[in-house]
Amino acid sequence: MTTEKVAFVGLGVMGYPMAGHLSGTSLGVTVYNRTDSRAQQWLQTFSGEKAATPAETAADADIVCLCVGNDDDVRSVVYGDTGILAGLKKGAILIDHTTASPQLAKELELAVSEAGSEFLDAPVSGGQAGAENGSLTIMVGGNQAPFNIAKEVMNVYAKSVQLMGPAGSGQLTKAVNQICIAGVLQGLSEGLHFAEKVGLDINAVVDVISKGAAQSWQMENRAATMAEAEFDFGFAVDWMRKDLAIALATANAAGVSLPLTALVDQFYQDVQRQGGGRWDSSSLIQRLRSPDAR
Ligand SMILES: NC(=O)c1ccc[n+]([C@@H]2O[C@H](COP(=O)([O-])OP(=O)(O)OC[C@H]3O[C@@H](n4cnc5c(N)ncnc54)[C@H](OP(=O)(O)O)[C@@H]3O)[C@@H](O)[C@H]2O)c1
Repeated sequence: MTTEKVAFVGLGVMGYPMAGHLSGTSLGVTVYNRTDSRAQQWLQTFSGEKAATPAETAADADIVCLCVGNDDDVRSVVYGDTGILAGLKKGAILIDHTTASPQLAKELELAVSEAGSEFLDAPVSGGQAGAENGSLTIMVGGNQAPFNIAKEVMNVYAKSVQLMGPAGSGQLTKAVNQICIAGVLQGLSEGLHFAEKVGLDINAVVDVISKGAAQSWQMENRAATMAEAEFDFGFAVDWMRKDLAIALATANAAGVSLPLTALVDQFYQDVQRQGGGRWDSSSLIQRLRSPDAR
């Protein structure tokens, strides 16, 4: 199959720049966003077309990419009279970039294959900056043949795209990613909070320890904004709790213990109670700075 037309549903923090990268190629791009003003804004910045429903967006596309919030959001744009499945061409590939449950991936693979098309679960890592710079890491579940075709498209906004196994394997790999991030962010929050309480200059501390064994992506990309208490960007706490719920439920079903992840999930609940649901997930440090929040 030659990919000529692609569609992108969901122009949020991540989808907006990802679809933007596609518009910089020779591919024809059609976008859809529930809040139409966001799609209009996208068209003022990038070249392409917009459609009125997910079904219309998918109608001509060889590959349909999707990046919305959670399992229910995915179902609401895939199913029904105006959903993607109602418009998806036979033989087309639906790529779900949403971080969702492995169960949803298996459900969608069945529904999409019954419609004569292919499905890949393909959650991403690399944050807002990774989406904007086209340097995401993408972990994929599904079959090899559609992966080989879809990889060429995903390479437009990714630096690494890997097939991890059958449907659901991308989401399971993303759960591992989120488990690792939760612990690192709590450790970084405690370290930086300790530094400011004992009178050290956070930026000077990070400058030196980021050259040693404490270095991490979070330290490189988030320590400066954590020092300034800036959280109005990035990966929302609400989304992090959604991801940790998936990881904890999957672990529970598999009889796996995730004590640190469960604890950090409760800390994120404290941040939500502080009004930080849309703050970047590095806002864990605010819980330490505000004793009332604990
Ligand atoms: N932000 C990050 O750093 C990051 C990193 C890795 C993975 N992710 C994952 O990527 C996904 C998107 O994250 P994001 O940060 O881009 O989220 P976001 O900025 O909140 O955008 C969510 C998008 O989904 C749409 N949407 C939500 N519910 C919908 C529904 N029921 N029907 C139709 N459209 C709906 C929203 O449309 P409206 O504009 O109408 O609200 C918006 O376009 C999430 O699963 C998140 O966990 C995010």
